Amino acid sequence: MNLANRNLVTIDDLSNGEIEALFSLADEMADSPRTQSGVCQGQIMASLFFEPSTRTRLSFETAMLRLGGRVITAVDIGATSLAKGESIADMAKVVGSYADIIVIRHPWEGAAKVVADYAGVPVINAGDGSHEHPTQTLCDLYTIRKKRQTLRGLRIALWGDLKHGRTVHSLIYALARFGATMLFSARAGLEMPEHVLGKLTTEYGYRSIEVNALGEEAKRGLFPLDAMYVTPDRPHQPAMFPDIPGFSIQIKGDIETLKKHGINASLHYNISENEFEIRLKKSEIDTLYVMRLQKERRASTEEAQELKRNYPVVDKRLLKGKEFKKTLVMHPLPRVDELAHDVDDDPRSMYFKQAAYGVPVRMALLGLLLGAREVPIPEKGDSSVRKVDYPVYAGDSKVKCPNTNCVSNQETEVRYIKPEFKIVSREPMTLRCVYCDHELHPQYVASSDWHEGKLENKKYHSADSYFARKIKPGNLIIFASENDAQGHHFRPSSYVKQ
Ligand code: CP
Repeated sequence: MNLANRNLVTIDDLSNGEIEALFSLADEMADSPRTQSGVCQGQIMASLFFEPSTRTRLSFETAMLRLGGRVITAVDIGATSLAKGESIADMAKVVGSYADIIVIRHPWEGAAKVVADYAGVPVINAGDGSHEHPTQTLCDLYTIRKKRQTLRGLRIALWGDLKHGRTVHSLIYALARFGATMLFSARAGLEMPEHVLGKLTTEYGYRSIEVNALGEEAKRGLFPLDAMYVTPDRPHQPAMFPDIPGFSIQIKGDIETLKKHGINASLHYNISENEFEIRLKKSEIDTLYVMRLQKERRASTEEAQELKRNYPVVDKRLLKGKEFKKTLVMHPLPRVDELAHDVDDDPRSMYFKQAAYGVPVRMALLGLLLGAREVPIPEKGDSSVRKVDYPVYAGDSKVKCPNTNCVSNQETEVRYIKPEFKIVSREPMTLRCVYCDHELHPQYVASSDWHEGKLENKKYHSADSYFARKIKPGNLIIFASENDAQGHHFRPSSYVKQ
């Protein structure tokens, strides 16, 4: 495998086979870290960390030093010319002319993609806002593989702040590709964001089972869950259940799907409600992945204080549960209060190992992206998940990413970044920002072949109209609003809802 000159901005930049091949090289690096000093001799890594970091920054820098390379560092935006209003693109071009590879952490979602677009050297995303943290995912997967000898078909529970935790966003995309069943146990108000779930269902074909919809009786005694996401390759079989009135297709399908994924579930008749319901029983969980409250992503300290109250804690008592008997307890660290110190000596605790594996994993990654090492890709590593090639929309209208923290909305970057979106669905019209993955649902569209020689044909339509869905992707014009459409001299057609 030759990964020379590639970027790692999102975990999807690496195929399953490439991840497994990288891990074989990481094994070699871990076995003899002190004999690798010739691998990147003469190469320079720029380490740009514009948010606090201990593990990611220091393990990347250690990795580069172990490989015989050298490191230049900037750790404070205020000490760089970004503070004078320089754009990320200009900074990237300059740093790319000094260093052979760039590792960047930045508070804006999509910032690493912009650096990769302009640097001219390989770029590694070390965390961009709440978006992704792909190298943490590599450390997580490497840890699981070391303990379980496989990454396939795992049952993994994700716990805590699933909304802002970038590490879990990269992790669930990777786990989806390896066919995991995912159990979400979020702090109320910090559930997995809609756009991440949207990607999980559209891009990876996962389907959700809303546990909250099952009711309290159904969940009694169970490890607190709010949603389950299951693989598409083992479809539910509603036909196996009798056609009982009030017993929805969804419930019939869900129970069969749960069983197929090893989640113990049984069917009960609730006399008072005259309804059938699913009850869940304790099922073994392979990995419990704990997230701290990302208080730095909260609008105010009051809001953070409120969310801190009743934040779920993983401790010795919880881990006494039958379902956690062989569970790997993982955390990207740093931890605050959500993971008790009384668990540290437990053989199931993996978090300090995850951090330690950061060095060999990042050594392997640097060696591969710098073209200093090559490894064969195992055939079995190919992803079973279909990769969807969505058409991209980059029109001139005022359509903007709805995420205020997206790099495409920042004052210093709007001068040169043109918003771009993947068209992931026409029904309803759904665009996904190429920088941060947030979704938007524009209401008005038109076709660029409007004129047919006649100005009166320059009309816009409701995005959910039959006519709108007929417009070829290459001809599609998307408007942020009716004002936007009219500003481009389009008039409403009869396909615009009044
Ligand atoms: N896991 C992780 O990203 O840790 P740091 O913030 O310390 O780099």
